[in-house]
Parts: sequence; structure tokens; C-alpha cells
Amino acid sequence: MRGWCVLAIALAACGDEPDALVDGMFTDAEWAQIQTFTPIGEPPPNPTNRYADDERAARFGQRLFNEKRYSGPLAVASDLGEVGETGKIACASCHRPNAFFTDTRSDNAKSFGAARTRRNAPSLVNVVFYEWGNWGGAHDQFWKQAANSPETSDNTAGTRLAFAHVVYDHYRDAYNELFPIPLDPALDSHAPDAARFPRSGKPKPNGAPDGPWESMTPEDREIVNTIMANCGKSIEAYERRLISRNAPFDRYVAGDPTAITAAAKRGLALFIGKAACDECHTGPTFTDQAFHVTGVVQTIDPIDNGRYDDIVRVDNTFNGAGPYSDDPVAGAAKIANLVQTEDLKGRFRTKSLRHLTETAPYFHDGSAATLDDVVRFYNQGGGEAGFAGVKDPRMVPIGLSESEIADLVAFLESLTGEPVTAELARDTSAP
Ligand code: HEC
Ligand code: HEC
Repeated sequence: MRGWCVLAIALAACGDEPDALVDGMFTDAEWAQIQTFTPIGEPPPNPTNRYADDERAARFGQRLFNEKRYSGPLAVASDLGEVGETGKIACASCHRPNAFFTDTRSDNAKSFGAARTRRNAPSLVNVVFYEWGNWGGAHDQFWKQAANSPETSDNTAGTRLAFAHVVYDHYRDAYNELFPIPLDPALDSHAPDAARFPRSGKPKPNGAPDGPWESMTPEDREIVNTIMANCGKSIEAYERRLISRNAPFDRYVAGDPTAITAAAKRGLALFIGKAACDECHTGPTFTDQAFHVTGVVQTIDPIDNGRYDDIVRVDNTFNGAGPYSDDPVAGAAKIANLVQTEDLKGRFRTKSLRHLTETAPYFHDGSAATLDDVVRFYNQGGGEAGFAGVKDPRMVPIGLSESEIADLVAFLESLTGEPVTAELARDTSAP
């Protein structure tokens, strides 16, 4: 509606006093709104992770992020290796440090890890500004994501016991310098009591027979879980440093009228006006942190229910309310009242719109190849069929002209900031 207001100002009919026009284009009120999109501040504090802002932990997390040795057998052949090979996949295989931490090596929107992932691998740059991790919000904490991720079957397909052994064998000193309880000497394969920690194993799936994990004492399982939590917290500390700032858009709003093109400025006016993208994309990372059905037509089989499927995954040993949290009260408050209701079907988290030029393809299934495709999707009011749930009432045809579509794309392209430093992109895993 704001576009109409701008028009109305020309007729001196919007409000009592006509606002000044900023940069010849925006009223004071619009400019005030535009300023809510910038600058990107510091990541919000995370009391559930006492290592969140510990620099040594971040450096340790970076090493683990690039570590491959714990990963399980490849179920599909890819550039990573042949079927059955192990030790081939790191977090960095799908979140490539020199590509804004997205996957540019797999042949389409879904990543080749141990198997093909169901969803598109998101950028990890500025990821810690999200309140909920993953497209459907499966993670209330990024350290929970990182503590579980080594075991995800289509990603690295490792096990927590294999992971703990890699930490013992290759990172013992770094770990022991950081954390109060040193690694248990029985993790050494030559220790007399090495059998306490089988070389591989994780909690069995529901209904399956007991495995190596279930053969362990509860105390020893807790030792391994503590290692996973500490390593997850270190990886989150690393992710908290993957921040990109100073996009042309930020420089424009900070006072450089030449930082973005006239087309991008017209696109910005559409974004907060006729196209009403700001109904969901708000704040410095352009997300309202909520979940909506936009009607992205599924390329995923079986159909992806988004938030509905993911919400039950918040219930996990490593969540913010659990025994490994450094502030279980704050962690519990965040996840109180999460209920799997029908209306959550088909909802996905509003995506950040930062550095889009580096992170194609778009949407949770990667079904939009270009930003032009994305804007045309919105212009027609989202998808018609082929998705779960009921489409958000805000998803209506917009009626953008061809030149307006190009302007909106130009604005989205102005949101790419500086890449992370070479130091943060380096593979620092143990040789
Ligand atoms: C095989 C490819 C692959 C590997 C390996 C992988 N990821 Fe991911 N990652 C993905 C995909 C796909 C998603 C989206 C998952 C979803 O939404 O269900 C994702 C999501 C994430 C997210 C949440 C992003 C967001 O927007 O909220 C984080 C954080 C993350 N991964 C970190 C890691 C870490 C840490 C590791 C290693 C322990 C790892 N990933 C290994 C593919 C991968
Ligand atoms: C009703 C809320 C809503 C509105 C309105 C909305 N978006 Fe989105 N946007 C989302 C959600 C939710 C996603 C993630 C959808 C998915 O992957 O299934 C998304 C994803 C995107 C993406 C993909 C980013 C990526 O990295 O994959 C872009 C680009 C985007 N929106 C731009 C826009 C633009 C431009 C407008 C205005 C024309 C707009 N959005 C309006 C909620 C909204």
C-alpha cells in the first residue's frame, strides 16, 4: 500500500504534513522503515552455549567443520567417492567455505552426501541470526544441529562413537585445553578398557534390536554425549563468526546514494510497497523468523510438510532445555508450547535474503533457479497445487510489469555483503 501513499504525498493527501523525500524517492516514514533492514548487528547472545563467543572454541569448531574421518559409507557415488567408501564427507562438503557455505559441488539443488539430501543446503553465512535452524525449524539451537548432524543418514552418516574416537585420536590436546573434563583415556584403542567405547555406534532406531550404544553403561554414554555437545557448541561458536556485512544496500542506507542503482532503489520501493515482501521479510536479515505456506511446488517425495514434520525433532537430548544446555531455563522457555498442529503443514521458515547472488538455487527444494524465477513465482501469487497445507492469504498475484520484476531482482542483488575472511574459510582439520 505504501506505493499509493507516495503517490498520495504528491497530492498532499497522505497524513497532515507531507514528508520530505529522501534521496528523491522515499518519504521520511519509508526511510525509517528502510533503516530497520540495516545494519547487521552482532549475533544475539546464546546463554545455552557457554562457548558461543569463545574464540578458541570457534577455532576448534572450524577444525571439526572440515573433518571427514568419522563419516560413514557413501550410499551413492559422487565426486566424494565410490559406494561404500567411508571418511569422505565433512560439513564443508555441502557448506563450501569459499561459496558462502552453500553446496556448489553436487549436480543440483539436493546435495550428494552419504545419500542425496531431501532439501537444498542453505548458506551458513549469517545463519546464527535465525531463531530456528533448518527450513522447517527442527533446531532450537545451532549447537543441537551440530551435535546431531554427524549422525544424519543422508549427510555424513557417521555415529557419535566414531566421532568421539576421531576427537580423541586427532584433537585430544585441543579438546582438553578447552573443556573442563578431559577426554576419557579408555577412548584410546590400546587402552585396557577400550571396550567401554565401541569404535562405532549411536542410539538405535525405535523398535530395533540393541546395538553397541545400548551395550554401554549410562555413565559412558553420557561421556560421549558430552563430547558431542561440546563439539556442537564449538561448531556453533565458529558459525557465529560467519557474518557478512556491508552489502551495497547497507552502504546506501548508511549514506552513499551511489551504492545501489536506480533500478535497485525502485525495487526497494516495490519491496516495501506494491509487492509487500516486507510482510514476511523483515529486519536486518530479512526474516520475520516465522513459518508460512507460500506454495512452493514440491519436487520432494514424499511431500515435505515443513514445520509440521520438523517441530517434533526439537525434542532431543541436545536441545536448549536438556541436560547439556548451559541455561536450561532459557532453553525450556524457548521451546515451551510447541505442538504439532495441522495448520503447520507446508509451512517453511521465512528465508533470509542476504547474499542471494551467491546461493542459487532458491527455496527449500531448490526449485527456483534464478531470482527472476523467484520474483515471477511471487508475482503470480505463489504455487497453485502440489504442496502441503493452506497457502498464506498474503500470497496473492501482485501485477508487476516486466520492468518492475527486473527492478525487484536488482534490489535483491544489492543485498550481497562481503565474504567471510580467508582465515575463516580455511580447512584447518588435523592432517
Ligand atoms: C550432504 C550435505 C550436507 C552435509 C555433509 C552437512 N549439511 Fe548442513 N545442511 C544440509 C541441508 C540439505 C540442510 C537443510 C536441512 C533441512 O532444512 O532439513 C542443512 C542445514 C544446516 C544448517 C541449518 C541452516 C539453516 O538455514 O538453518 C546448519 C547450521 C548446518 N546444516 C550445519 C552443518 C554442519 C555443522 C555439518 C557437519 C556436522 C553439516 N551441516 C553437514 C546439507 C548438509
Ligand atoms: C507470506 C510470507 C512471505 C511473503 C509475503 C514473501 N516471502 Fe519470500 N519467503 C517466504 C518463505 C516462507 C520462504 C521460504 C519458502 C520455501 O523455501 O519453501 C521465502 C523465500 C524467499 C526467497 C528464497 C531465498 C532462498 O535463499 O532460497 C526469496 C528470494 C524471497 N523469498 C523473496 C521474496 C520477495 C521478493 C517477496 C515479495 C515479492 C517475498 N519474498 C514475499 C515468505 C514470504
